[in-house]
Amino acid sequence: MKVLVVFGTRPEAIKMCPLIIQMKKTQKIECCVCLTGQHREMLQQVMDIFRLQTQYNLDIMKTNQTLSMITISIIERIENIIEFENPDLVLVHGDTSTSFAASLAAFYQSVPVGHVESGLRTYNLKSPFPEEFNRQAVDLISELYFAPTESARQNLLREGKDASKIFVTGNTVIDVFPFTIKSDYQNDLLKWAEGSRMILLTTHRRENIGEPMEHIFHAVKNIIEDFPDVKVIYPIHKNPKVRKIANEIFQNVERIQITEPFDVVAFHNVMSQSYLILTDSGGVQEEAPSLGKPVLVLRNTTERPEGIAAGTSKLTGISETDIYQQIRKLLIDKNAYERMSSAVNPYGDGHASERITEIILQYLLDKEVENAEGVNCPSNI
Ligand code: UD1
Ligand code: UDP
Repeated sequence: MKVLVVFGTRPEAIKMCPLIIQMKKTQKIECCVCLTGQHREMLQQVMDIFRLQTQYNLDIMKTNQTLSMITISIIERIENIIEFENPDLVLVHGDTSTSFAASLAAFYQSVPVGHVESGLRTYNLKSPFPEEFNRQAVDLISELYFAPTESARQNLLREGKDASKIFVTGNTVIDVFPFTIKSDYQNDLLKWAEGSRMILLTTHRRENIGEPMEHIFHAVKNIIEDFPDVKVIYPIHKNPKVRKIANEIFQNVERIQITEPFDVVAFHNVMSQSYLILTDSGGVQEEAPSLGKPVLVLRNTTERPEGIAAGTSKLTGISETDIYQQIRKLLIDKNAYERMSSAVNPYGDGHASERITEIILQYLLDKEVENAEGVNCPSNI
């Protein structure tokens, strides 16, 4: 019983590695791992932490790659692998172009697709772009839907997906904390930030690149100027377009450290020691509530409404004034800050990988029985 697991970006790797570890533990599922290499260094950082054996790396990343380039290279290179490995299931994650292209290739070869982190929606194809399209497209051709939350399941049901194929499992990102969080964690940047109110910043969304990102950075710059006890740590995405905007706006700004992306151990621990998180990331929105950290989401929409409902995340929009005002409020209004800091865990209980593994195992066993019956059935001879 073989599962071909395909992923290629940092967040997919972080969320798929615990699941692969769990599937391997069963010793009943043969797990073949194909990295697309949509990311290079940022993917490698995760693989260095989990040290999993991988069978393929399509190594497709190009500087300033376009969405078409990613999609074409993956479909071209993965076709032979799917044919050669002949898996019983292709497993993809979330909403990246890797997931879209890999699931499309599997669909074309009539191999069933399992979708981890299925059912998230904004129903706005422009935000997040192109992720909203990717996740809807993957769900269109999936055979198994692993919805992290009940509201994701409801989205799938509203779209008419077969209820017997939808499973609420929690998000595997929560399963990662036991691998990463350390009570005595230290690094040079945390030492630098000691005694301040440290804000952790991440940005990378394609739809934010350009004016929205300029607004975000100007708002942060003004906050640093107006609050002498604030320091900002910004592990910057490798995207050269993001770096160009950040370098221009943050030039000569004191009390901000722009640093290379952290590995996930460093990132989770810096998160857990931060005062406040500013991000346009999807995964960070899911992680922060468990750590009791308020998150201002630097976007107009989110496919992760649970954090907002729990009161730990807020959408800021993308205007400079709105972003500035919302950060300022959390810095001056202790009650507002306390209200957003309660630790809640709307995204999972740390056992999502176990649940998904059980479901996949049962699915593969049922399929084996079905195939055996099909072979023995005289009408098929
Ligand atoms: C991709 C995903 C996005 C996800 C994000 C996680 C799509 C369409 N987008 O967006 O959903 O939130 O990953 O970070 O799939 N680069 C490097 N080294 C790396 C990684 C990136 O140099 O290790 C640079 C390259 O120049 C690359 C650029 O960053 O062209 C953008 O990478 P890309 O994967 O196209 O887009 P992301 O914004 O990372
Ligand atoms: N992350 C990391 N190092 C960093 C920034 C983020 O390891 O410097 C992790 C973070 O903990 C989360 C994931 O990367 O699990 C989020 O990835 P990203 O924001 O790139 O993508 P998204 O979640 O928006 O798809």
